Amino acid sequence: MNENNVHIMTHPLIQHKISMLRDKQTGTNEFRKLIEEIATLMGYEALRDLPLEDVEIETPIETCQTPMIAGKKLAIVPILRAGLGMVEGLLALVPSAKIGHIGLYRDHVTHEPHEYYCKLPDPIDQRLIVALDPMLATGGSAIAAVDFIKQHGGKQIKFMCIIAAPEGLKRLQEAHPDIQIYVGHLDRQLNEDAYICPGLGDAGDRIFGTL
Ligand code: PRP
Ligand code: URA
Repeated sequence: MNENNVHIMTHPLIQHKISMLRDKQTGTNEFRKLIEEIATLMGYEALRDLPLEDVEIETPIETCQTPMIAGKKLAIVPILRAGLGMVEGLLALVPSAKIGHIGLYRDHVTHEPHEYYCKLPDPIDQRLIVALDPMLATGGSAIAAVDFIKQHGGKQIKFMCIIAAPEGLKRLQEAHPDIQIYVGHLDRQLNEDAYICPGLGDAGDRIFGTL
């Protein structure tokens, strides 16, 4: 599905790996590897519109004009903590990307995001920014993260999450209609504790083994 600025992944490899993530028997080590692999597969889709420019290359046979990624510089911005788990997956595709960090945690009672850290590559206005967080639940954290990026001058922003709830996706789209949103799987709904159903539980705790 590709509805305006929302891209929902359909690739069978992504779906298979997300199902493995959901399994409560999947341990920390495997969980981390799966998050990274899914980030690479989703990154491949999310970066399919990177601009190309022809450059001159000498092959062993002749000189030719051939396309390479144009000057656009990339910034990867994980939302701490859980977004960190996706960084290596993106770096596998674009090893020279700069990395910013936004620290947010969700209050357990109000579910509102609280900022505790923000450091972004400077200047950021000419960069394509890919913000990462495996979970988009109420949307509060994603909206706050994109707010920060824009306050720092970020203009071209993509947001990648592995699992989204319809409620959060709608809120993020409404708050930031100008960004591209990549979703590994759109789940059914949030529960009364604002956890995604069926979801995978607490992504940060499962990545870092702090259950
Ligand atoms: C989780 C998740 C998102 C956020 C999503 O982080 O990684 O950042 O919740 O929820 P929301 O859409 O309702 O804002 P959490 O606050 O648990 O912090 P952590 O990554 O440090 O575990
Ligand atoms: N954060 C998570 O890690 N999981 C959820 O289901 C919701 C928010």
